[in-house]
Amino acid sequence: MLGKQKAIRLMSQDTLRTDTQAKSPASTQTGTPKTPKKNTKKLFIKTYGCQMNVYDSERMREVLAPVGYAPIDGPEGADMVVLNTCHIREKAAEKVYSELGRIRILKDKKRKAGDGDMVVAVAGCVAQAEGEEIMRRAPVVDLVLGPQTYHKLPEMIARVSRARGERLETNFDTQEKFDALPAARKPEGFAAFLTIQEGCDKFCTFCVVPYTRGAEFSRPVDQIVAEARSLVSQGVKEITLLGQNVNAYSGAAPAIEGGDHWGLAQLIRHLAKMGGLERLRFTTSHPRDMDEDLITTHGDETKLMPYLHLPLQAGSDRILKAMNRGHTFAEYRDVIARIRAARPDIALSSDFIVGFPGESELDFERTLEAVAEIGYASAYSFKYSVRPGTPGAALPGQVDEDVKSERLARLQAILSQQQKEFNESLIGRTLDVLVEGSSRGEDGLFGRAPYLQGTHFAGSADLIGTMVKVKIERAGLNSLGGTLVNG
Ligand code: SAH
Ligand code: SF4
Ligand code: F3S
Repeated sequence: MLGKQKAIRLMSQDTLRTDTQAKSPASTQTGTPKTPKKNTKKLFIKTYGCQMNVYDSERMREVLAPVGYAPIDGPEGADMVVLNTCHIREKAAEKVYSELGRIRILKDKKRKAGDGDMVVAVAGCVAQAEGEEIMRRAPVVDLVLGPQTYHKLPEMIARVSRARGERLETNFDTQEKFDALPAARKPEGFAAFLTIQEGCDKFCTFCVVPYTRGAEFSRPVDQIVAEARSLVSQGVKEITLLGQNVNAYSGAAPAIEGGDHWGLAQLIRHLAKMGGLERLRFTTSHPRDMDEDLITTHGDETKLMPYLHLPLQAGSDRILKAMNRGHTFAEYRDVIARIRAARPDIALSSDFIVGFPGESELDFERTLEAVAEIGYASAYSFKYSVRPGTPGAALPGQVDEDVKSERLARLQAILSQQQKEFNESLIGRTLDVLVEGSSRGEDGLFGRAPYLQGTHFAGSADLIGTMVKVKIERAGLNSLGGTLVNG
């Protein structure tokens, strides 16, 4: 259970995680490993990248369960291996090919042992971007499927014996995917992801997402509510609504409610009425889409957690323009001021890129100043990675790797300091914690604070799955510790 939320984001080697969550592995397998019954086929899914991939891996696991696949905790001996990949930075994409080298050895070993075949599938954003190349470069791969085709997985497995050309599915019909996936879910814990929006029309000049996930698509409200109900009926207390641009959400309204399309704020207010659901979050939002309705909802809706990930990327207006972010730093500052006015205890997090083409030392200092001014509870920061086919790749003024490394280190020093100070500021406060499991010794429990930090405290295992109050007494960079408060 602990592993599930750890998979929040992929951190490649050139980045340092400075968020408030538990230490991040570069990837994670999906699903609690179980010992499969006889006759079940063994499934191993390895997930790279963002929360949307974590959600998609869970859906793949759910789609494959009725056709006899049960998750195991490693690729060895698996009947099916799925690599759910990320294309966001070069290192993320290259990991796929090195992992495939290891998988090839295991596949040969299984065959030689007379233990049957291992079906190898590459899913996710690398599959979408480089499907043909994967088929060519890695003969070990049986299936390639893009992010909008997971509902076809059982059908595709049946195609494995056919020609390689028929084993590549990278169409872009997001609606078909969501219509085909069942509303019924099989959650593994008490906090779950729910994708409500996919794709991106914003075309930031550094980013591959518009090419790998396609155009913006919002799921209809009814479909989302049905899925949320299924999660809550199985004990889920906290739902994080996901989208590449989640606050650009505009979904068809429920028939009985009339109206046309609902925005994210209206969806949140509606979901918040669901009995049994205690916490709502959303990610990732874009500063341009933080409308007044959503800002006031942060003040009015107690189930919406006081934590907002709102990426700034860079502090210099010149660089923001070159990135095609569509706002200035002053506009970002204004949005933050309005959110803080609506919800004074909100904690903020952000993404930053250093070394975008043309970034001078002075531009970079604007980023440091922006961080100092806004103050973040956590952040992700990355060196700019050239992505073929994006406008940024062709820009003049590419920054040297050693300059990028030096800037990243300076930025991460201040972000880590802010994160530490934020966590320490919680000492003495009593926070609601959703208990997710046991940890460290017999009476140790582990849960999530409103600001997402893993929180450790002593208590009995029957509290798992409930919301408790914990008085915070210790704070580290990534986690908190304290004492259970009765009543
Ligand atoms: N939709 C979100 C971001 C999704 S990608 C938004 O607009 O904020 C997650 C993060 O990866 C981005 O915020 C950015 O900081 C980083 N990223 C994307 N492309 C990158 C690249 N080419 N090099 C380095 N970091 C990148
Ligand atoms: Fe990428 Fe920009 Fe879209 Fe975010 S808004 S997914 S950074 S193109
Ligand atoms: Fe990576 Fe695709 Fe997510 S490129 S960050 S897995 S949308």
